[in-house]
Amino acid sequence: MSKSVLVGTNQTPLSLEYADWVNQLPQSEIRRLLKFTPDYYFAGGKPGVLPIETFHQILEDIISEEKALLQQNSSSVLNKYNYGETDGNIELRTILAKRLVKRDHISCTPEDVLITTGSQQTLYAINDCLISPGDVILTTRPTYLGFLLPAEKMGAKIVTLPSDDGGLMPEFIDVAIKLCKNKFGRTPKILYTIPYSDNPKGTTLSSKRKQQIIDIVFSYNDLLIVEDVAYKEIQFGEHSIRPMKEADPNNQRIAYLSTSTKEAASFRIGYSVFPEELRKAVIKAKGYYDLCSSEFVQAILARYYDKYIDLQLPLIRQGYEDRCNAMIRAIKEYMPYGSYTNPTGGFFVWYETSNKNFDSSKFIQTAIDSGVVYVPGIAFYPQNGFAITEESELVRCERPTNTMRLGFSLLPPDMIREGIKVLGRLLWMEDKQKVPRSFSSFSDKGFFVI
Ligand SMILES: Cc1ncc(COP(=O)(O)O)c(C=O)c1O
Repeated sequence: MSKSVLVGTNQTPLSLEYADWVNQLPQSEIRRLLKFTPDYYFAGGKPGVLPIETFHQILEDIISEEKALLQQNSSSVLNKYNYGETDGNIELRTILAKRLVKRDHISCTPEDVLITTGSQQTLYAINDCLISPGDVILTTRPTYLGFLLPAEKMGAKIVTLPSDDGGLMPEFIDVAIKLCKNKFGRTPKILYTIPYSDNPKGTTLSSKRKQQIIDIVFSYNDLLIVEDVAYKEIQFGEHSIRPMKEADPNNQRIAYLSTSTKEAASFRIGYSVFPEELRKAVIKAKGYYDLCSSEFVQAILARYYDKYIDLQLPLIRQGYEDRCNAMIRAIKEYMPYGSYTNPTGGFFVWYETSNKNFDSSKFIQTAIDSGVVYVPGIAFYPQNGFAITEESELVRCERPTNTMRLGFSLLPPDMIREGIKVLGRLLWMEDKQKVPRSFSSFSDKGFFVI
């Protein structure tokens, strides 16, 4: 039989009109920088201290158990290789619910725990379900771009609040709500916060600030706290700070979002506990996005959270603490005058040059050419947002250019030291200052830690 050839008579290119947001919003800066594989990667929050041998062990166990089951013609194996429930695998949810009750003092059942494809999907879905164009969101300045960009895509007005070395400053929340009411005729719907070693600055909220936030926000019955605890398990030293969600025993006021990415591996599994109505809406949205998360990956993580995580976490934390210390030491030694945060957990240090005219988004190409990549700080400010100033005024949000987020999670300490040395030298040269002859003889003079 002859093969028929298919012919397209009209070969002119497609002319499509895209949805407005496609041209109005940039791609995530982190996604853009992922394609670079320089020697010194300080960009995305890629986990670098990973319990890989544990995962090998889990996989071996799964394989040998499945071989035995297949010999008995058991159909149970098929489930792992199939579609599952949209809200997640019940075995994993049961294990996570037990942990959330025991470790985080969160009142929840397995049915309250929702599994998503990374907590990134949850951040997107919350915005998708709650935001109509013109709705108002409060967050810190700067804040995680993975929350900002979806919120802007949905047409939210993003109002940013000042933050200091203790994170979000609660005294500006009430002021912001009143100013939003006057200027936009609406009260904010969401307060987005990252209480533990936030992204991008690495600051942590004290228990006192958390209580102040709860007291203020709970006095409004139309404002949801989104508590993103991505770095809760990556805290150095004593680890006893409790999440705000503890103060919501009836599960009505706070959306609590966590992820396995930082405490296990980037298997794209997030877990959250939401007020009931919001949970239903988010599950509906997730059904539209991807039907369900991978059953096989959930089976791996169920074993990790059940048997291994508490053995692994001390090692993982120590690994990140060593990397963080290496980065802080190298910044002190090699970077030009400026300020930087001193995190007690998480993956990031925030660095600001004292030269306010410096533009880290232009300088990035010079850095990449020398084998270093970081995230320019401008990415963590809204494109068209607003700011509550320290003088309690509502103004357009500026996007300072003299900042960068330096991630210490991926590389071992010696590589961090080398990479910061390269970056420091480039910055000195950019500043047209004489590069200090011996970087290693630098003192702390000229630096201040914020
Ligand atoms: C604060 C914060 N929230 C959420 C996420 C998304 O994490 P994932 O989608 O890997 O769970 C990240 C990733 O870096 C983050 O830093």
